[in-house]
Amino acid sequence: MTEQTLFIVKPDGVDRKLVGEIISRFEKRGFNIVKLRMFTFTKQMAEEFYSVHSSKPFFGELVSFITSGQVVAAVIEGNNAITTTRLMIGSTKSFEAAPGTIRGDIGLGISDNIIHASDSKESFEKEVAVVFK
Ligand code: CMP
Repeated sequence: MTEQTLFIVKPDGVDRKLVGEIISRFEKRGFNIVKLRMFTFTKQMAEEFYSVHSSKPFFGELVSFITSGQVVAAVIEGNNAITTTRLMIGSTKSFEAAPGTIRGDIGLGISDNIIHASDSKESFEKEVAVVFK
């Protein structure tokens, strides 16, 4: 089933010059890039983007980290995009992520876990409206 999803290379991924490698992994997997944008989250955008986590103890740290530098957001399209992209990025805690995943191959952090990707169609629709409005 062809569908779209969104991923964001976080400030640590941009700082570490991993944008090319990450986009390349999705292109090689067979996804098409539909939209691409480099920008810096404002606090307001970040709070809206991550509002599902607003009651979590790490919310402040999360907003602070995602607004700390430039990010690269992409909408990609292809077969089973949402589930496959989540499999490709790996577990949230990078130090637990399986080898072969993006976080499992090139990360160790939690806030600084390189990449975010939508976890459902509902999340995708909400997140894309914040990032590409
Ligand atoms: P992400 O996939 O962008 O979704 C929410 C983010 O919260 C997650 O990646 C982590 O970067 C961040 N986060 C920070 N601390 C924690 C934590 N203790 N548990 C889970 N996520 C955390």
